[in-house]
Amino acid sequence: MVLPLEEQAATLERAGLTRFIRRMFDDCPDLFMKNLTVEAVTSDRRMKIAGRWVYNFGSDSFLGLDQHPHVQGALERGVREWGTHNGTSRAFSSVAPNVAVERRLADWLGAEAAVIYPSVTLANVGALPALVTRHDVIVADQYAHNSIETGMQVAKARGVRCAKFAHNDPTDLERVLRSLRPYRRAVVAVDGVYSMSGQFPPLAALLQTAWANNGFLYVDDAHGTGVVGPQGRGTVWETVGHYENIVVVGSLSKALSCLGGFVAASRRLIEVLKLRSQSLIFGGPVPPPYLTALEAVLDIIQSPEYYRLRQALDANVRHFVMEARRLRLMLLGGCVPIVSVLVGPEQKTLQAGRLLFEMGYYVQSVIFPAVPHGQGVLRVQLNAIHPRKAVDGLLAALAQVKEVVCLPESSAVAPPEVNLPVAAMPAA
Ligand SMILES: Cc1ncc(COP(=O)(O)O)c(C=O)c1O
Repeated sequence: MVLPLEEQAATLERAGLTRFIRRMFDDCPDLFMKNLTVEAVTSDRRMKIAGRWVYNFGSDSFLGLDQHPHVQGALERGVREWGTHNGTSRAFSSVAPNVAVERRLADWLGAEAAVIYPSVTLANVGALPALVTRHDVIVADQYAHNSIETGMQVAKARGVRCAKFAHNDPTDLERVLRSLRPYRRAVVAVDGVYSMSGQFPPLAALLQTAWANNGFLYVDDAHGTGVVGPQGRGTVWETVGHYENIVVVGSLSKALSCLGGFVAASRRLIEVLKLRSQSLIFGGPVPPPYLTALEAVLDIIQSPEYYRLRQALDANVRHFVMEARRLRLMLLGGCVPIVSVLVGPEQKTLQAGRLLFEMGYYVQSVIFPAVPHGQGVLRVQLNAIHPRKAVDGLLAALAQVKEVVCLPESSAVAPPEVNLPVAAMPAA
């Protein structure tokens, strides 16, 4: 007897995207590096996979705070003081470190208030639908993160009209908003840093267009939190300089190396989210040890040590970008720790990633559907704790891969200067 459950699994294996990805797995089993098991890690960002040590250029822990003794110590202290989990929804109660970290996050960002979710995904799935009723609309950039799309699907199921506009194009945003009239208010959802390309959106222009059309911005700055702008306050503060008419989402799991996501906005809006956001009300919170660890992270971010970490990170980004341009690789981004090297066809992208791995360097080969079809990239994530010899080793390996796989070549002969926003030393 075949169980309906197993029949369903077989049906799903043959459906749409799953079939496409399974075919890729089957066609190039040796090239696909997915679902890897990491057997061990070191404090200089090496990791062991299938018995082989490689430098890991696939970590979002950009500042290396996951390896910081104060952060690790605070996490251990959190377990002793609070146990592993407090086991209740925040609709009933919150541990003191949760409230303290939210206050400190808001103060650091310069926003009125903040609320923490267990992940950025759960923030987008909970907050985005909570910001609208069926009189409103949500319009998102076509390449906004998948969790924004999921948040829109929840809103859509409740009768909210949703649409997309062309990537980073304020004129197209204007067109889409006009086409949706009449509506009460519009939420315009974008990423603060596009995670596959390391590129920024034109936030000021998008805000102007949203505002002029009775809307506000919703910016998922997961990859900007902690590493964009002089104090690491993120893309919104760096490029717009205020939070008026903007909801900011940030990550606690990437540069801040702990766990969770947050939404920061006006006090009034945050209080409304606490009442309307289902992932917050019906789900559990970030475990207390991660909140005590976050207190240590915020201590570091607001101390001169942050300046030193950013110097190390920015120096690695600048060095990698300058030298990769000298190799005439086609780069996307270049101003944040995610720098993508364009490869093109799917199979070639997988092959390039596999060759780098065999030379001792792990980078993520990103292919369709995460990027447009035929525009695969090697996604390099630079960290403050990568030793210079590792960055140089990766560059040398890329130079070889460029010849073997015939990577596309940039036409620029002289590499342009790399201008990163300078990390300012905080006042004593
Ligand atoms: C823009 C953006 N939003 C959301 C997420 C998901 O974050 P989380 O792992 O906290 O759910 C990511 C992950 O990379 C991201 O890049």
